[in-house]
Amino acid sequence: MAAFDPELIRGDFPILQKLIYLDNAATSLSPRQVVEAQNDAEYNYRANVGRGIHRLSRIATHQYLEAHEILKRFFGGENGTLAFTKNTTEAINTVSLGLRWNKTDRIVTTIQDHHSNLLPWYRLYNEGRVAGVDVARGLSGVILPEDVEACITKDTRLVAIGHASNVFGTITEAEEIAKICKDYGVLLLLDGAQTAPHLPLNLEKLACDFFCFSGHKMLGPMGTGGLWISPDVAEPDIPAPLFAGGGMVAQVDGTSFTCVEGHARFEAGTQNVIGAVGLAEAARYLMRLGMENVASHSAALARRMISGLSEIPGVHIYTPSGVPLIGTVSFTLEGVHPHEVAYLLDEAAGIMVRSGEHCCQPLMKGLGLAGGTVRASAYCYNSEDDIDMLTATVEEIAGMVK
Ligand SMILES: Cc1ncc(COP(=O)(O)O)c(C=O)c1O
Repeated sequence: MAAFDPELIRGDFPILQKLIYLDNAATSLSPRQVVEAQNDAEYNYRANVGRGIHRLSRIATHQYLEAHEILKRFFGGENGTLAFTKNTTEAINTVSLGLRWNKTDRIVTTIQDHHSNLLPWYRLYNEGRVAGVDVARGLSGVILPEDVEACITKDTRLVAIGHASNVFGTITEAEEIAKICKDYGVLLLLDGAQTAPHLPLNLEKLACDFFCFSGHKMLGPMGTGGLWISPDVAEPDIPAPLFAGGGMVAQVDGTSFTCVEGHARFEAGTQNVIGAVGLAEAARYLMRLGMENVASHSAALARRMISGLSEIPGVHIYTPSGVPLIGTVSFTLEGVHPHEVAYLLDEAAGIMVRSGEHCCQPLMKGLGLAGGTVRASAYCYNSEDDIDMLTATVEEIAGMVK
């Protein structure tokens, strides 16, 4: 692809001829290339990985291993370990359930984090496996490095923080937080569910310890995602695998066994090989577009949303202006429940957005938003026209309730 051209990109997503898709923070669409790569795997080399000598098994094994390498390249994490999971939630749980905790350990997270990056830590605390979870507060949409640092104590073992907010669309200053964590000797887990699709990343430079992501939010298939572990994580801090079984074991003797090294130790049992092939194709597709281009396109559409929506009487925008954004904007319309706004956007103009609490109940309670917000989230295939249609339709809905 010569230049980043949303019109050309849209050609790869047939459903966009019928509707305006602005629910990318929940799940993105997959281009034809991803669907075709999966079909090719289904038709031509559907076989188990690492469990056969025949031709199909050899091809499937090669493609599956290559998928790991492509994702590591995509994230700038070639020297780390990248294990495939079903999604971000499974990746975070792999760390929360796999780390060998001391009862005195504490974990830092934030009020704006997704339930998937809160509940795994709350559960450890509720089960008495750690001493506490310290939650950085702040409802402005931006959690600053100093807010995180203020929560760190001598017992903090891990900071687990969203790399970007799925409600506000704001980006966390992860490099700064990584430096703070290094200074305090604390592990850093980034929930990258919302940044993996949008930002050019170099995880090794960023220097986090764990990075969790979902394939289905970055043009890949549903049921795909991963956990990246930095090469700098010392052996005692490498999580134990969640599951034991075929494929992750080196030696079984009597009733004891040893695990293999690397990603395979986290991938017990038959894996989603077809999904991995599709995810690798999604990463290739995004690399062809150029993640710098994707990032600036998404951010420009978010700014356009903010400027258009802010002109409409009765609209309250929760996404702050003048800060780096990923393409997501949350707002409410006075007198209309967010679900009603979402329903009307679809009915009136075929616009798909998300409404409700966005798996962020503590944040919504903090903001006093019982019905949550309307969230419009743009991606590489959205155009300025999509955004203008959203704004015009919200204006129409606002006019109906005047
Ligand atoms: C910030 C964030 N973290 C975690 C998740 C959970 O992702 P998944 O449902 O793919 O596990 C999401 C999903 O919306 C998210 O936005």
